[in-house]
Amino acid sequence: MAEKPELIRPHAIVIPLPFQGHINPLVDLAINLASRGFTITFVNTHFVHHLLSKTHSDANDHHTDMFSEARQSGLDIRYATVSDGFPLDYDRDRNVFEFWEYLLEQFIFHVDELVGNLVKSCDLLAYRLLLITDTFNSWHAKIAKKYNMVDVSFWTEPALVFALEYHLELLRKNGHYPPPEEKKEDAITYVPGVDPIGTKDLMSFLQEKEITVVHRFVFQAYEQIGNADFILLNTVQELEPKTVQALNQILPTYAIGPVNFSARDIKISKALVQQTECTEWLQSKPPASVLYVSFGSLVQTTKQVIEEIAHGLLLADINFIWVVRKNMVTDSDAADVLPSGFEQTVKEKGLIVPWCDQEAVLSHPGIGAFLTHCGWNSVLESMWHGVPMICYPFLYDQPTNRKLVVDDWKIGINLCDGEAVARHEVAGKIKMLMCGQFGEVSKKVSTLLRNSLGDGGSSCMYLEQFMEDMRAKIL
Ligand code: UDX
Repeated sequence: MAEKPELIRPHAIVIPLPFQGHINPLVDLAINLASRGFTITFVNTHFVHHLLSKTHSDANDHHTDMFSEARQSGLDIRYATVSDGFPLDYDRDRNVFEFWEYLLEQFIFHVDELVGNLVKSCDLLAYRLLLITDTFNSWHAKIAKKYNMVDVSFWTEPALVFALEYHLELLRKNGHYPPPEEKKEDAITYVPGVDPIGTKDLMSFLQEKEITVVHRFVFQAYEQIGNADFILLNTVQELEPKTVQALNQILPTYAIGPVNFSARDIKISKALVQQTECTEWLQSKPPASVLYVSFGSLVQTTKQVIEEIAHGLLLADINFIWVVRKNMVTDSDAADVLPSGFEQTVKEKGLIVPWCDQEAVLSHPGIGAFLTHCGWNSVLESMWHGVPMICYPFLYDQPTNRKLVVDDWKIGINLCDGEAVARHEVAGKIKMLMCGQFGEVSKKVSTLLRNSLGDGGSSCMYLEQFMEDMRAKIL
């Protein structure tokens, strides 16, 4: 009989939600854990793998998987893929609700088969298995239990959003969810660890009456969260002290963010679409003279909104880089997203790209501000590089993230104060932010984030605590 080895190594099977904003932070976390002695098996869907291969392979570089470089650096990172239930040519954007429905109810069967096979091939005397997955993958508890794995839930958004979703019953009891018939501006004052928050700052789905698949994702995630052995939050204690502390009292939470920067020595190409190189263009611009505009990977809007922003940029007469995705507008053709003649009018002042290396752009000294949809990764990346924000949230957690950026941390302003976006207001807000008003405080927040990951910093300590508690559990 094989001898039990002296040291049992943690082997984590890491499974993100198959969306760019959820894959990115989990890739960085996986690298970080691998550099601390974990064996990792990172799992992408066949479709995500297909996009990565299409984007990153060229004549000289035969793409195998996104971690080949990390392996060359000596990290034990393996790679696997799983079906999301649909053929590669199925249009996941156009059929978004059907796709999400499947992820919510059926994806578990594909994961179960894959994890079962991985478990069979793993030397269970040498390794203890962990399942690290997105909190929204509510099947984590079933799978972890079935295969006797340590269940680690990874939360990609701020602690504030976690707390509001976790305490949804309180919102129901107090008549704030579902939203009352008569919309009223009300402050929510009773959620543990949460400062008074207006109903307009709740996540978009809590402001909607109709129950959609998005709601069911949230409800199921929080039905299961109590089963997780560990919950890793992609936030920083100093940013959300009361909320983090209140969560710590009721759940095994660890504020280890921003994980996006904890694996900096190894650069992994995570883009699911071809990116345009912006550095050379940025080099030709004076310091802090360029506005970076991006609404992340999922937001879709109307042609009218895009037009108002486009005209606002022209009126502000500034340099800008604008990420305009083909599928960004719902009421027009992909070829017709921007107003006609816009690109010719802006000439060398504006660079319009379908996707870019956002981190490289935000870290460039040419960038003066970021017009953002307030996706949580974008917020963290902007803060890390000390770039102030103009906030234009659309949906999900974005309105709540806006509240943190503008009202609490004061490192940004709103794009529009009324309901609708209007070109003159857009121009005015851009000019206001580009004059350097928030420079000092943004730099302070950048330092706070960097310190949190440094030796003795809060996120570093939480990660060490997680390692210790995890080892105690697996030995
Ligand atoms: C969504 C939600 O909006 C977000 O709040 C949640 O935390 C994750 O899921 P998304 O809308 O895509 O994400 O926004 P965001 O969180 O900002 O993530 C986008 C990621 O894509 C960022 O890491 C950003 O650096 C990257 N990106 C974006 C690029 O690399 N290039 C681009 O051109 C645009």
